Amino acid sequence: MKYLANALLILCLLAASCEAKGLGRRARAAIRAPRRTAPRRDPNEKVFNVLQYGAKPGGKQDSALSFIRAWRAACNYRGTARLLIPMGTFLIGATIFQGPCLGPVPIKVQIAGTLKAVPDPSMYEEDFWILFEKINGLLVTGTGTVDGQGNAVWKYNDGGSRFPSSIKFNHVVNGIIRQITSVNPMGFHISIVLSQNIRAKNLHITAPATSPNTDGIHISQSSVVKVSRSVISTGDDCVAIIQGSTDVSIKKVTCGPGHGFSVGSLGKYPDEKDVRGVVVTNCTLRNADNGVRIKTWGGSPPSQASNILFQDIIMDNVKRPIIIDQTYGSKSNSPSRVKISDVRYINIRGTSASAVAVDLMCSKTVPCEKLYFSNINLKYYGQKKLPFTSTCTNAKVNYAGYQFPPPCR
Ligand SMILES: *[C@@H]1O[C@H](CO)[C@@H](O)[C@H](O)[C@H]1NC(C)=O
Repeated sequence: MKYLANALLILCLLAASCEAKGLGRRARAAIRAPRRTAPRRDPNEKVFNVLQYGAKPGGKQDSALSFIRAWRAACNYRGTARLLIPMGTFLIGATIFQGPCLGPVPIKVQIAGTLKAVPDPSMYEEDFWILFEKINGLLVTGTGTVDGQGNAVWKYNDGGSRFPSSIKFNHVVNGIIRQITSVNPMGFHISIVLSQNIRAKNLHITAPATSPNTDGIHISQSSVVKVSRSVISTGDDCVAIIQGSTDVSIKKVTCGPGHGFSVGSLGKYPDEKDVRGVVVTNCTLRNADNGVRIKTWGGSPPSQASNILFQDIIMDNVKRPIIIDQTYGSKSNSPSRVKISDVRYINIRGTSASAVAVDLMCSKTVPCEKLYFSNINLKYYGQKKLPFTSTCTNAKVNYAGYQFPPPCR
C-alpha cells in the first residue's frame, strides 16, 4: 500500500496536474495516513472533474451548466466513471444529474468541495436544487458540503409553495449517499421519491430549529430505504416517512433539535399509498419536539400505516416522546381514515419535557389496532408539578414489562 502510494506521489510530481488525473488528493491522503485503507479504486476509472468543464471555484458565478456538462460526459462514458467536484466553493442553481448512464454501475459522484445554492426560490421551477434522476446504481459520497443558503429565503416561506430540497433522488434504484454535510436547505435537506434500495449513511444534516419545513430526510413512494449513522439537527422532521414508503429502516441516527422521526403526515392528499414496514432502532433524540410520531390528517381519505417498530430509543429532554396524532394539521373535524395497526414500542427510555409522555390520539372511525408497549422507562423533566401520564383515545394497547408513565386504563 505504502509502496503504491509513493509510486502515485512520484507520478503526481511528474504529472502537470494531479487533480486532473484524479490521483492527487487521495495519493497524498494515503501518504499522510498509510494505515487507513484508502477507498478501493478501479484503475480503469475515469475522472470527470467539473473544473475541466468550466466550473469556477470562488462561489461567485453560477457553475450549474459546467456541472451538467461534466455529468453528461461521465454518464455517457462506457467505462467506470466518477464525477469529481473538487475542493473549493461552487455556486450553482438548479442542477439535474439524469440517467440512465452507460457505464458499469455504480456511477460515482464525489463532492469534496462546498456547493452553494443560488439563494432565490423563484429560480427553481421544481421542488429541488440538485436532482439525481433515473439512475440505476449511484454512489454520492463526500466529504463535502451542500449549502442551500436557506437562511436567506426562509422568511419568504408562507407554508404555501414548497421550497426546493437540497438533494433529491427521483427514480433512483440502488443508490448510496454518504459522508455529505447538508446545511441550511431552502426546503428539505434530502428528499427520496419513487426510488428503491437506497442507503443514506454518515450524513451530517444541520439547520436551525426555527427554520421552516426543513425535513432532514423526506421519503415517499420508495421501498427499501436505510438511513444509518447520521446526525440530524433541523427545523422540521429529522426523518419523515410519507405515503407509499415500504421497508424503511433508521438505525443509529441522532435527532435534535427537530420534530423527531415521523411516519407521516399521511392522508393530506387523495390516493395516497400505504406505509408498511418501518423500523427505527438504536436512535437518540435530544431536545427534540417529538420523539417517535405517527401523524395523519383529520378528514383524510382511507389508507393504512402498519407494521412499525420503534426499538432501543433514547429520549433526552423530548417534548412528546411517543405520539400518535390523527388530527394533525386539519381544518376538518371529521376523523382521519388512515388505519394505524401493528405498531410496537420496545425499550424506550430517557426523559420527557412534558407530563404526557405517551399520547395516542387515534381515529374514531378507524381506531388504532395492535399497539404494543414493552419496557417504557421515561422520566418527567418538566418545570411544573404534574402527574406523569399516558393518554389513549380510540387506541387498543397491549402492555408488557415495565411502564412509566403508567399505562392508560
Ligand atoms: C441496538 O444496538 C445494540 C448494541 O449494538 C444491539 O445489541 C441491539 O441489538 C440493537 N438493537 C436493535 C433493535 O437492533
